[in-house]
Parts: sequence; C-alpha cells; structure tokens
Amino acid sequence: MSEAEAKKRLAALAMEIKAADALYYQDDAPILTDAEYDALRQENVALEQAYPHLIRKDSPSKSVGAKPSSKFGKITHVVPMLSLDNAFSDSDVQDFVDRVRKFLRIDHSQTLIFTAEPKIDGLSAALRYEHGKLVSGATRGDGRVGEDVTANLATLDTIPKTLKGSEFPEVLEVRGEVYIDHADFADMNAKQEKAGKPAYKNPRNAAAGSLRQIDPAITADRNLKFFAYTWGDLSAPLSDTQMGAVERLKALGFCINSEMKCHGTAQEMIAHYHAIETKRSELGYDIDGVVYKVNDLALQERLGFVSRAPRWATAHKFPAEKAITQIEAIDVQVGRTGALTPVARLSPITVGGVLVSNATLHNEDEILRLGVKPLDIVEIQRAGDVIPQVLRVVKDSGGAVYTLPKKCPVCGANAERDVDEKTGRTDVVRRCTNGLSCQAQLIEGLKHFVSRRAFDIDGMGAKQIEGFIHKDLIKEPADIFTLESRNADIQLETWDGWGQTSASNLFAAINERRKLDFDRFLYALGIRHIGRGNANLIANHYLEFEKFRTHIDLASEIGSPARKDLMDIDGVGPGQVEALTRFFSEAENRKIVDNLLAQIDVIPAIPPSSESVVSGKTVVFTGKLELFSRDEAKARAQALGAKVSGSVSSKTDYLVAGPGAGSKLKKAAELGVETLSEQEWLVLIG
Ligand code: IVH
Repeated sequence: MSEAEAKKRLAALAMEIKAADALYYQDDAPILTDAEYDALRQENVALEQAYPHLIRKDSPSKSVGAKPSSKFGKITHVVPMLSLDNAFSDSDVQDFVDRVRKFLRIDHSQTLIFTAEPKIDGLSAALRYEHGKLVSGATRGDGRVGEDVTANLATLDTIPKTLKGSEFPEVLEVRGEVYIDHADFADMNAKQEKAGKPAYKNPRNAAAGSLRQIDPAITADRNLKFFAYTWGDLSAPLSDTQMGAVERLKALGFCINSEMKCHGTAQEMIAHYHAIETKRSELGYDIDGVVYKVNDLALQERLGFVSRAPRWATAHKFPAEKAITQIEAIDVQVGRTGALTPVARLSPITVGGVLVSNATLHNEDEILRLGVKPLDIVEIQRAGDVIPQVLRVVKDSGGAVYTLPKKCPVCGANAERDVDEKTGRTDVVRRCTNGLSCQAQLIEGLKHFVSRRAFDIDGMGAKQIEGFIHKDLIKEPADIFTLESRNADIQLETWDGWGQTSASNLFAAINERRKLDFDRFLYALGIRHIGRGNANLIANHYLEFEKFRTHIDLASEIGSPARKDLMDIDGVGPGQVEALTRFFSEAENRKIVDNLLAQIDVIPAIPPSSESVVSGKTVVFTGKLELFSRDEAKARAQALGAKVSGSVSSKTDYLVAGPGAGSKLKKAAELGVETLSEQEWLVLIG
C-alpha cells in the first residue's frame, strides 16, 4: 500500500469505526460482528505502526471512551443456563442417538423416545415465578450470571405475570426464547428508518436490542414474543417427560411451539427436521435448526452434562447460506496466540439477511487449496454466528495465488509454522514468534482477559484496553490492577471522553475483580485449547490454583503421575495437557501469572457434592460392567466428586470390578485397595 493509499484508508477506518461505535454503544444496533469490528481496529493499529506520522488526531486508537457500565443489575442463575452441542448432518444425528443409547446401555430392542422442536433464533431468557407470581426475568449472560431485565420482560403479552390455575411448584423458573416475528421486524425497521435511525441487521439483533432498553415502554412497543421450552430452578418436578413438562408450561399460560413432536428413531427425527426445514419460510419467525432432546427426564438426569452442554440434547443446524461476490483484498489479522489469519475483504453482499463484507481464509494451506487471490469471484457461506467462509473460486482473476507473509504484519517478527516434535507434522497455522512483545498479541490477549467470560470488568472493553496499551500504561494483565494507584500520574479523569465518575466507576469495577473464581482466572490467561469448559473441569479437579500449578510443573515430564492425573480428567486431552505445560514452563508467562497473583486472589473451586461419600476418592473401573456403560459409570463417579483413574496404584481408593477383571484385580489385592462389585458400588454411592 502506498503512503497516499494508507492515508486514505486511515481516514476511512476512523469514520467506519466511529460509526460502528455509535451504533453499538448508543443504539444497541451493532452493524458489524465482533470479528469484523476487531478486524477494522486491528487494521487501523497495523497501518498506524507502519506509518506513525499519518496517525490522525481523531484516530480510533486514541479515544478511550467509557463503555456505559452495564445498564442492568445482575442475576445469578441458580441453575446455569447451558448451550447445546451441534449436529450438521444426518449421520451426526444417528451418532447422537447411538451415543445416548450406548451411554445408557439401551439396546435396539428397547424404545428410546426423543422430542424434536424448532431451534428459535432469538435470545434465551429465564423467568422466575414464586407462588405463581413473576418475580424476576434475566438474560442468559455468560450462562452463570445474566442481566436483570424483569421490567422489560414483564411487558411481553406472551409472558404471564401470574401463572394460570393453582397447580404449580412454589418456585418455578421457566426458560425459553424471546424473539420477534418477521412482520413485527419489518414494521419496527420501517419505524427506525423513518426516525432516521439505523435498521436492525436481523430479527435476533432486533429482539436483543429491544429487550435491553432502559425504558420498558420501548420494549413494550416492539411486540416481542416468548416460546417456553425448558426450565431451571424448580421446587417440584413438572412431569416425568420433556413433552409432559412442556405441556404443563402450556397449561400454566405459556406459548409452546406447535412443531414439537416425539420420535422413536433417528430416521423419524431426521424426517421431522426436513419437514420443519420445508416449512421454515412459512413459520413467520427465524429458526436455525431443530433441537432433539431425550424425552424421559430420569434418563436426562443419568446422562448429565459434559462441560457446557447436556449429553441428552443436540441442535441439528440448517445448512449454511451461500452467495457469490468478489474479493477486493486479502488482509492478515494477528490473534491472541499470534496466529496469522488471512481475511478476505469482500464486495459487501447480503447472505441470509445479513450484510457480509469479510470472510476468513483460515490459513495458508486453505489459501492454496482454494487457489484464491484478490479480485477473484468466490462463493462464500455464512452459518449462524460463525465467521463467513470462502468455499471456492468461481472465476479466477488470473495471476499468482496469494501468499501469506513470513513476517508478522504488526510487529515485523518472524512468523513460523510449528513442527510437532512427535509426529514431525507442520502446524497449519503460522504464528508470530514475538509473544506479548507483539502489540497485536498483547492487545488481543488483554481483550480476552477483560472479556465477559473472563475477568468481566465493567467499563473495560476492547476499546479501553487499546487506549491504555497505546499510551503504554498497560503492558500485562497485572497493570490493570495498578492503574488506580498510578492515577496521580495518569489522571484518567482528565482524558478525552472520561470524567470523574467514569474514572472512579472503572477503578471500582477493577477492584471488584480482585477476587476471582479459579475457572474464570484460568480461562482469562488465554492458554491455547483452554476454553471455559475445560477451565471449569480443571478447577473442579484441583480446587486450588496453587495446587494445580504445582501439578502442572510436575506434569511437564512425559509419563509422570501428575501428567496422567491431568489426562484422566474427563474432557482434557493431549492438546490441553501440551498447551498447559508449555504455557507454565515459559518464564515470561510465569512472571505474568505471579505479578497478577500479587494483585488478586483466586477463589478456590467448590468441590462438587462434597457430601457424597466418594467425593475426593480415586476409583478405577475394570472388567465388563453389566449395570451401566463405562462412560456412565465414569460420569456418575465424577459428578459425585470422585476421580476416575485408568490404573490401580497406592492412591486408588476403590476398584470396581465387573466380570472378567484380571491384572487390576490382582494389583488391587497386592496393594490392599478395596475392591467392590458393581452392585456394591451402587450401594456405596446411594
Ligand atoms: S434447549 C440445556 N430448546 O439455543 C440447553 N434451546 O444453542 C437448553 N434455543 O441457549 C436449551 N431454541 O437460547 C433449547 N427449542 C429450543 C431452543 C433452544 C433455541 C437456544 C437457547 C440456547 C441455544 C443453544
């Protein structure tokens, strides 16, 4: 890019980002996805680094505006609001059914019923009724804590303020989807435009924006609707079955979806999915798939959850929507782990009702596979919230295929592809080798650190982080916690866009996070392959961060008991173990963690069901289990707080042996480990 082009682009970026900010912060009507917005900001930073003398007075990287601290109070969900696993093909559905049957040991001679119902494309809400009266309503938030939008939800005609009849549990939390139908969406956007306000991008955004209004009268005017499909906290069961429970919700005054049916086979479920897909355009509201759930609630209970999704349900998604457009340019983004991601800037095109102007090209192997280059005409696809992808080149523009730079476009350091020591395979991702000395990695890492599911610091978003980094005031996470003590020099309250109130609000929000749960803390560190789900499993296993850290140090030795212990956690695999040991073996990371620990306290995890007799005990299953599948036995033991190990040692508390047990039984006898039959184990755990 020439200097003149860079100047032009910086001016365009300043305008675009300012407009996007205004819509996001003031109108609750984001015009860009988070990824698109981040891409613009990143491009701006990269250009400013390359041409520091072109930095504009109104550059977006200079402004640190206070994001309005959350408009609503918080509500902690008594029962977490979870998400669903996805199925994309018929065989994924068959696999789901087979998995459930295998887990429960239900063979094909026995029937197993599933419900199938549309997956509504809105936002989920939880409504709490006490003695039949609506007492609160919350958004899902991060699944654990949501926003208190009671007054707004109470304006919906489809949400009863008082339950019908007198037969209901004392405490009943009804969950379902808030949505806006197509006709009301069209009306609402027509009104927005008339008032000179931006149109909402799709019905889901419109529903979310309408629900999060400070003035409930605005929500009332938007005609939002609610479908009930599940429940949370409950003082007495509603039914023995999913269908029965949903029908009771109907009797209590809720709308339930009329397309919900029961089926006995994967074939029937798939046929119902296709029937709903055919009707999709006539339903009058957006759906993005079909949800299947095990109908028998006792079986749901046995199946339980893995990480953040139930084993007893899955969402069969509709295929992604496609469109054809031109690639105007290919840019490279640098993520928090240093990954260089090529992004195709597209001639904007509407796909499934959403304007798309960027698509990911993933990595250089993908570019080679596609044979793609700027000016090519390509087919793209967009599925739900996933970043749009380039599928294929429709018309080649001639010339050489695009090649990814071998240097980081942000800091200029070498960008390399790792080679796996064991397999000798080269990683598909090229990464900047400069760690947190690379501005892009630092920014992305810190954005993740303060994000909602990590430290969740009110008033400290991507924009503020960039501002502080730009002024060299934050170089690592711990610096966030020393901002207040350095404020005599910083004088945040005098900065553009800040005042006394917003500065003290920010410091108060930071101080509120000086105590943080172990799982959030681990997730916030941004270690590769460690999402919230894994972080939660790890926290529940080790309970205390310091204990976990000692284990990780020991676990770097291949074959060590500490490594085995880590691997034995259900849901933690070699990828996570490698990433964790690697992260904690690097001096720079250790220092970052130590500095942070000097500022904050990590709250230990609460051991799951500590009252259970097997909590904290180590159990090994061996032989052919007859009463339950190996998976169920393991999941049940873990849910009761026991550790399940694959081999017998002096640390084993119980060996549960089915018929045909061999060497493990012998070893247990030698070590004096208590051996139980399956039946005895069941009696023990009650
Ligand atoms: S059941 C334990 N049923 O999809 C999970 N969810 O991807 C309970 N959703 O957060 C959810 N329609 O917001 C369920 N018929 C339906 C749904 C549905 C839409 C949403 C819900 C959930 C998300 C998960």
